[in-house]
Amino acid sequence: MALIGLFDRISLPLLRALDPEDAHAFAIKALRYVPLPRSSPDDKRLAVRAFGLNFPNPIGIAAGFDKNAQAVEPLLRLGFGFIEVGTVTPRPQAGNPRPRLFRLDSDRGVINRLGFNSAGEAAVLARLAMRASGGIVGINIGANRDAADRIADYVHLIEVFAPVASYFTVNVSSPNTPGLRDLQQAKALDDLLARVLDARERVSGRAGHTPVLLKIAPDLTLSDLDDAVGIARKHRIDGMIVGNTTIGRPSALREREKAKEVGGLSGRPLFRLATRMLAETFVRAEGTFPLIGAGGVDSGATAIAKMKAGAALVQLYSGLVFQGIGLVAEIKADLLAALRRGHRDSLASMIGSDAANITAESWPS
Ligand SMILES: Cc1cc2nc3c(=O)[nH]c(=O)nc-3n(C[C@H](O)[C@H](O)[C@H](O)COP(=O)(O)O)c2cc1C
Repeated sequence: MALIGLFDRISLPLLRALDPEDAHAFAIKALRYVPLPRSSPDDKRLAVRAFGLNFPNPIGIAAGFDKNAQAVEPLLRLGFGFIEVGTVTPRPQAGNPRPRLFRLDSDRGVINRLGFNSAGEAAVLARLAMRASGGIVGINIGANRDAADRIADYVHLIEVFAPVASYFTVNVSSPNTPGLRDLQQAKALDDLLARVLDARERVSGRAGHTPVLLKIAPDLTLSDLDDAVGIARKHRIDGMIVGNTTIGRPSALREREKAKEVGGLSGRPLFRLATRMLAETFVRAEGTFPLIGAGGVDSGATAIAKMKAGAALVQLYSGLVFQGIGLVAEIKADLLAALRRGHRDSLASMIGSDAANITAESWPS
């Protein structure tokens, strides 16, 4: 713990002085090459069972941090309960021109328009195939920008990665690939899930049953959300992630100039909208599948709020940018303290306990 605190104290000011994308590349390198200590085994009360998988704790690293599976082992060693790599596209692609990543320091937010920069399936598969098993590693999949048939890209990636994926996330919610989010509309989504789940069944003989989750945007209208959850239920999807970054710009943002950058906003300014959409999804899913909450988790309190809004598991990315890798241990300690205060021996009773109240509040501005 002390070493991780020291690592954060030295690295955070340094990283903040760099261009955000250089800082991210540097952070991945540091994770790979600095021998950080393995975190102690998790307290059993933090364990969560979801999608047929046993998570040692509910705190995961969200997609986008380790797009190309370069730091899976170090991230697991730091104490994350699960890692989601990707988004991976079939063919390598460069993404949008730089600059394309912006830190809104005084808002503790991030805007990105990376556009699925990916090393491509072959490079990512080679890295994952090399790892000794152990630890939950989900694979977040997406279509190449110039794909003629986008759904075919998702199907292909299911076939390729099933043997090494603990679960799949079908990402149709990135705002940075033009037209991608249209796959969230009823007809397209129905078609996408039918074909993806069909592919999952085809490969289950050699890969076993791999859970498939759908990751949605926090910007869906409630009527689009009705459709999306209805279609997810019809196809018996294993779970949903709520959600991706927002194209909205909350009125309270202080970094007005940076807020004008095109792209998806994440971090603290996303928390209220994403948590509201999570609760809206929870009441519609009616317990048919578990949810992962993402968007603005940067403390024990925000992680607990996600669980009370309906999340069985949470993911974070932007919080790490501002707080460093000590954040995961801090959140886990806060979760245990909350369990002790409530005389509970598992997190399960928290899940969704505030969802109905949250959906009755006025809409976050
Ligand atoms: C720089 C950056 C890159 C991201 N890339 C992806 C991605 O490739 N695929 C994806 O599904 N989500 C991606 N996300 C979204 C995150 O996974 C997450 O849903 C979102 O940032 C909200 O969580 P946060 O507020 O903790 O960052 C990215 C986010 C950031 C900040």
